[in-house]
Amino acid sequence: MLSIGSVLRRASLIGFPIGSPAGIVAGMIENVTKAPRSPRTPDEWENYFDLRWRVLRAPWNQPRGSEKDERETDSEHFMIVGPDSSALAVGRLHFNTPAEAQIRFMAVDPQAQGHGLGSLVLRECERRARAAGATSIVLNARDDVQKFYVRHGFLVVAPGETMFSAIKHVRMRKEL
Ligand SMILES: CC(C)(COP(=O)(O)OP(=O)(O)OC[C@H]1O[C@@H](n2cnc3c(N)ncnc32)[C@H](O)[C@@H]1OP(=O)(O)O)[C@@H](O)C(=O)NCCC(=O)NCCS
Repeated sequence: MLSIGSVLRRASLIGFPIGSPAGIVAGMIENVTKAPRSPRTPDEWENYFDLRWRVLRAPWNQPRGSEKDERETDSEHFMIVGPDSSALAVGRLHFNTPAEAQIRFMAVDPQAQGHGLGSLVLRECERRARAAGATSIVLNARDDVQKFYVRHGFLVVAPGETMFSAIKHVRMRKEL
């Protein structure tokens, strides 16, 4: 389970001269291959699910395992891989019908947020959905993250569920 934080801690333990964490993270992001792709190795898969859990579940005290659902095996998984197989950004695509795709579990490592990685994962999901013949794509967005999806052309179409009695969601949709 490697996060950017643990990569930085390892670097400082072996005496690697690290500067400001923000500068180091920016440098790391600069140097990784930013094309989102499916995890390949057991370590990448572990880090892929771990990032989901750390960003989307742990802050609400949800147990390990709650970061997965019943659609994992028939979904497409996207990850931007960082140093040591760490996960910088992840997202998942599945199909509700041949015409309608759905994105779930979008998450970016907290230290890597705001550097465009989430946008790259979202665009790759859209590209794959379009290539597979979907004509629209839906997602349930946290109320406070709507702006991110609106910037990518999604519109709010309905209220969504409230998860863990705390996080309000809205249903959003984009015609492809
Ligand atoms: C939401 C998230 C996936 C976006 O990925 P990212 O790599 O940080 O975003 P990008 O750098 O590609 O895009 C940044 C833009 O998106 C918007 N944005 C990003 N995170 C946002 C947030 N939490 N709230 C509102 N807007 C946000 C900003 O408007 C920013 O635009 P700007 O450049 O005009 O300031 C990521 O921040 C994240 O994992 N957040 C926590 C988990 C989460 O909320 N996941 C989504 C569940 S629906």
